[in-house]
Amino acid sequence: MKVERAKLTICACVVLAAFLATFAAEGTCADCALIPMPREVSPRTGAYLSAEGAETVGVKRLADATIPAEGYRMVVAEDGITVWSSDDAGAFYARQTLRQLAQKKAKGWSYPCVEIRDAPAFRWRGVLLDEGRHFFGKETVRKLLDLMAMYKFNVFHWHLTEDQGWRLDVPKYPKLAQMASMRLRSPAHGSHLQRGKDADGARTYTSSEMNTQKYGPFFYTADDVKEILAYAEARHIRVVPEIELPGHARAALGAYPEFSCFPERIPAGSAADDWGIFRDVFCMGNDETIHFLEDVLDYVCELFPSPIIHIGGDECPTINWSKCPKCQARMKKEGLTKLSELQIWITKHMAEHLAKKGRRIMGWDEILNGDVPKTAIGQSWRVAAKEGAGTDHVSGAQGAVKGHEMVMSPHNLTYYSYQQGFEEDPFRRAPKGGLSLEAAYTFDPLAGVPEEVRGKVLGGQCCLWGEYLWNEYDLAWRMWPRAFAMSEILWSAPAKRDFEAFSRRAAVERRRLISMGVNCAPLK
Ligand code: ACM
Ligand code: ZN
Repeated sequence: MKVERAKLTICACVVLAAFLATFAAEGTCADCALIPMPREVSPRTGAYLSAEGAETVGVKRLADATIPAEGYRMVVAEDGITVWSSDDAGAFYARQTLRQLAQKKAKGWSYPCVEIRDAPAFRWRGVLLDEGRHFFGKETVRKLLDLMAMYKFNVFHWHLTEDQGWRLDVPKYPKLAQMASMRLRSPAHGSHLQRGKDADGARTYTSSEMNTQKYGPFFYTADDVKEILAYAEARHIRVVPEIELPGHARAALGAYPEFSCFPERIPAGSAADDWGIFRDVFCMGNDETIHFLEDVLDYVCELFPSPIIHIGGDECPTINWSKCPKCQARMKKEGLTKLSELQIWITKHMAEHLAKKGRRIMGWDEILNGDVPKTAIGQSWRVAAKEGAGTDHVSGAQGAVKGHEMVMSPHNLTYYSYQQGFEEDPFRRAPKGGLSLEAAYTFDPLAGVPEEVRGKVLGGQCCLWGEYLWNEYDLAWRMWPRAFAMSEILWSAPAKRDFEAFSRRAAVERRRLISMGVNCAPLK
């Protein structure tokens, strides 16, 4: 498999170099650049000329069942363009490639003659957007989906609930939209997060500076969700919603303190106003809390057709559970000996609950700590054994060995909300730094995964966490050009990463994005 990929990539690079040389010599395609690099590119001489740009240019479409899912074969000839695929997605991706081939001329458009055979390396090519910390809204989400489609991403992981904001209206629990979607103040621009400990030894986080502006209420209604789902579907993007449980729940608990272990600890009426990890999580001993969570997930299943529902599961402190009589009683009743087993208990409970509706759960790697059903999909984010607030860390590779399908998003290489690390970055506000474009391009979802379980790796994802992304411009700055790297890693899986060649192509695509008004950072 590895050898085949290496051959393909070397072959594609050599052919592409010849391809570019040909067009440069003919002066027809001096700026051609393809991201992600297709599997095979065979240049021909000449060009197809049309008055139409790539979005509307006529394409003859033919079915070919032998072409893999989402793949395509495209021939651009002087007399027209033909695309073969086995599904609509393949034809859609051919058109995205065509956009990168199209050259604007004085009168219309020129498409250099070429034959391309292409198909993705990974089934899951995702982008996470955290709207809990900052809310971007429908217009920005639509723009994000447009850009994702251009670079052949196919999963929008919509992180809808957080300590600092709950973004989904759930009519049965109106205070989620009225209160949990709002906070009374927020960390100020330029602030940084300071760690500490409370009287019980639980970790605390305090921003160095706060503003005093009310933030919200900001949330999506059922109609908003339907609109986004339709927009994504038209771009062959699946939307996987995430509802965090049992931790990262402080926003919901601000609205419904009765679902926590110690309601008196929660300042009622709004979400948490600072970043960090909160010890106030859902009470696992209270049956009403469990019903609330079931109701919310039932409603999510009504709204979202996704066969996969992400239930979060990361960074859940157990300190309140250790002191809560109801949680202790639950542990006794269920025969649990370790506090962390309460999280496994709720994960299994929700896996069973959602299975009855034909859905699978997905969760951050913390959910794999116990014997959750093998149908659960793990999302690996921690990279070192002792990292994070969870206990026994199961790595991405170990998750696959345990029999789970896995999505790889190790924070050090895929958290594009981390700053790029270059000095002149005008948005230097993120607390962690140094994920350069070159480093991002080294990510390999299969790294360290034994050959025999590589099929369990669905793919990978870049994550845009929202603490230090205030708006669409910050989001774009952090995402691009690094998402070019993710696009190529997940679609093409180049066995050898030629960063210089990639950078030359990325420079062309960066110019394209800037001309579209996208706030793309430098190639660093
Ligand atoms: C995470 O970054 N806490 C998933
Ligand atoms: Zn409790």
